[in-house]
Amino acid sequence: MLEIANVRAGYGAINVLWDVSVSIPAGELTTIIGPNGAGKTTLLKAIMGLVPLEQGSIRFKGKPLGGTSTWNLLDQGIAMIPEGRMIFKDMTIEENLMLGAFPKQRRAASKANCDKAYAMFPRLHERHNQLAGTLSGGEAQMLAMARGLMSDPKLLIIDEPSLGLAPVVVNELFEILRRLKGEGRTIVLVEQNTQQAVGVADQVHLMQGGKVVLSRPSAQVSLEELHELYFAR
Ligand SMILES: Nc1ncnc2c1ncn2[C@@H]1O[C@H](COP(=O)(O)OP(=O)(O)OP(=O)(O)O)[C@@H](O)[C@H]1O
Ligand SMILES: [Mg+2]
Repeated sequence: MLEIANVRAGYGAINVLWDVSVSIPAGELTTIIGPNGAGKTTLLKAIMGLVPLEQGSIRFKGKPLGGTSTWNLLDQGIAMIPEGRMIFKDMTIEENLMLGAFPKQRRAASKANCDKAYAMFPRLHERHNQLAGTLSGGEAQMLAMARGLMSDPKLLIIDEPSLGLAPVVVNELFEILRRLKGEGRTIVLVEQNTQQAVGVADQVHLMQGGKVVLSRPSAQVSLEELHELYFAR
């Protein structure tokens, strides 16, 4: 569904990604793991057109994404749930959700998608008129996920959703990811919680120093080997 080939990209004079190639199959959950600073978020930004490619290509359903503006990606069925959640604290939960239904062709379905989101996240329903700034960390992450789903994306990209959450909330979050996978959505999950991420994933890619150092189906990944590579320099 998404083909990332030989991508080199970074921030001006600082190059971060070095010839990164990752293939994202439709209907599967692909996880990208790796230590702080490995370039995971930069890779997601490259997909979303937020950093320019110096080299290589990114194709979605066969068509190059280069030059597609970020809001057009939403129209094409790609949604990103960014690192740090980025919810609007002075708006209510429901107002935050409605922002996720911004693409024109999704607005008609916004009520139905909102109901779906509330069914999946009942706590958000209970608090729908509450200001988002008053939510707990876990609830805020659920809101960010629910907002990402409001455009009913074919491809859902999630950056470190478990960061800073208590273990019980992390379990809840991975349960939601399993359900989304069960709905047949294609998911790219960036995580540092290696064990949980590999547990839910179909495909695993380990990044280090801006390169992909391991790409494998999750069934063929051993956590020991992964940890050795993870901490190797
Ligand atoms: N806006 C920026 N300008 C310059 N350098 C940046 C910028 N954003 C990130 N970098 C650098 O790019 C490298 C990769 O950062 P990136 O955020 O992609 O890592 P990451 O794998 O997502 O890490 P983390 O797990 O901590 O989120 C780091 O060395 C970082 O300092
Ligand atoms: Mg990051």
